[in-house]
Amino acid sequence: MDVTVVEADVLKPLAVRGPFNSAALHLVIHCLPGPLARKAAAVANVAAVLAPTGVLFGASVLGTSGRHTRAARGMLGASNRHGGFDNLGDTARAPAPLGHPAPQAVPPSPAELGLPLANPPVPMPTSDDPERAKRRHPS
Ligand SMILES: C[S@@+](CC[C@H](N)C(=O)[O-])C[C@H]1O[C@@H](n2cnc3c(N)ncnc32)[C@H](O)[C@@H]1O
Repeated sequence: MDVTVVEADVLKPLAVRGPFNSAALHLVIHCLPGPLARKAAAVANVAAVLAPTGVLFGASVLGTSGRHTRAARGMLGASNRHGGFDNLGDTARAPAPLGHPAPQAVPPSPAELGLPLANPPVPMPTSDDPERAKRRHPS
């Protein structure tokens, strides 16, 4: 495998020549300054160095629209107040480009279609969780 590491501001065009078969933009978007439409530049800049069939992959943290646990919501708020997050308005839907009206036809989300989420939220174990108690004190 041939891996190229690029350290750059993704909000600016990348000083690297492609084309690459794949590129990662992992756990970065939720840290970029919002709104989401401004963050779209990061996706465009990384996508610009991909081959036509290249794959851009990664993950990000959704804002208040995400299905977060109570603990995760607390962390979300704290990270937006004090940490490096700026993602309260980040959604799973593509944003309207800056200066343009919202698109008329927005594809429904998997939840709206009743489809299972690829990564459903995991419930936080509580101290009275019998499964957790079993793991801690196997009989
Ligand atoms: C939560 S860390 C994730 C680090 C790593 N990608 C990972 O998956 O473990 C967020 C990273 O985004 C980077 N970052 C924030 N703003 C950026 C920007 N404008 N361009 C490139 N990287 C940025 C930070 O430097 C930090 O390393």
